Amino acid sequence: MLLELARRRRVLFLGGKGGVGKTTVASTVALARAREGGRVLLVSTDPAHNLGHLWQQRIGGRAVRLRENLDALELDPEQASREHLASVEENLRSFMPEHLHREIGRHIELARHAPGAHEAAVLERIAQLIADGSRDYDLVVFDTAPSGHTARLMVLPEAMAAWTGGLLRNRARSERLGAALGALGGDAKAARDARIRAVLDDRRARLTALRETLRDHEHTSFVIVLTPERMPAQESVELAAQLRQAGMGIGALVCNRRTPAGADGLLAGRHEIETGILAQLTAALPGVPLTELPMLPGELHGAHALDRFAARLASL
Ligand SMILES: Nc1ncnc2c1ncn2[C@@H]1O[C@H](COP(=O)(O)OP(=O)(O)OP(=O)(O)O)[C@@H](O)[C@H]1O
Ligand SMILES: [Mg+2]
Repeated sequence: MLLELARRRRVLFLGGKGGVGKTTVASTVALARAREGGRVLLVSTDPAHNLGHLWQQRIGGRAVRLRENLDALELDPEQASREHLASVEENLRSFMPEHLHREIGRHIELARHAPGAHEAAVLERIAQLIADGSRDYDLVVFDTAPSGHTARLMVLPEAMAAWTGGLLRNRARSERLGAALGALGGDAKAARDARIRAVLDDRRARLTALRETLRDHEHTSFVIVLTPERMPAQESVELAAQLRQAGMGIGALVCNRRTPAGADGLLAGRHEIETGILAQLTAALPGVPLTELPMLPGELHGAHALDRFAARLASL
């Protein structure tokens, strides 16, 4: 079921509560798809990266090869933010007069610590990875940070587009800049305004494209990962509502660490309780397919264990 979804989509986001198995399931579905020949890019957007830990391989900000057809990278919010602000600063400097460069530096410093600065930079990187990724890969799989953060990221393109528009108006209001720029004279001022507008328009276009991609249910799906317990199940229903409000399609629910059937005693009791919880979950989210992945006896660690888990997913 989950693999079938991965075949039909170009972008998957995996999200859910902390510790339920997002990184494991993202890696497993990416690997399962790569094993059958799909070219896959696996991206971690969680600042507390554990993709490298799980694969027992160093993974950084640039794509590294994990396996034939499978590349991975860990998106570093700090680095994304640094690169993003550096390019904004360079842009501003290129069309502002020299004596304002210190002022620009101060603005950039403020922006660095403004709320949402990291998320905005991460969003730009996600937009870029989706745009570039669609050329080189059949599928891009995002392993995201725990729920709240992710849902916020999904509504950000909206907020960011508004912010970009506001920036243009704010700039016009800035007296010091306004006075200095006034001294430039008509033609220079018009040329500079056109450049600023072009930069902002460019950015708005990228964010709008991202928003369209996220809302295109044939292209992008969100996969909610949970464990078969009451709280994660409830939170999954809430997360689904938030994502739908943001216009995203929920492609699948993945119940990870399902207690196996057919056991005695304690495990039999757990299995039955879980069945009840999952029945309520699917009733609350009709039409969203549920994939169950078993609780494994040992630790799920390293490429070999992931291979076995991917083979299992492919056989479901
Ligand atoms: N089906 C499973 N059976 C046994 N252990 C599992 C299973 N799935 C995941 N684990 C283990 O559970 C732990 C948490 O998994 P994982 O890191 O994938 O969760 P996560 O949702 O990404 O966590 P975080 O919210 O911290 O990013 C890991 O040690 C992993 O090996
Ligand atoms: Mg994780």
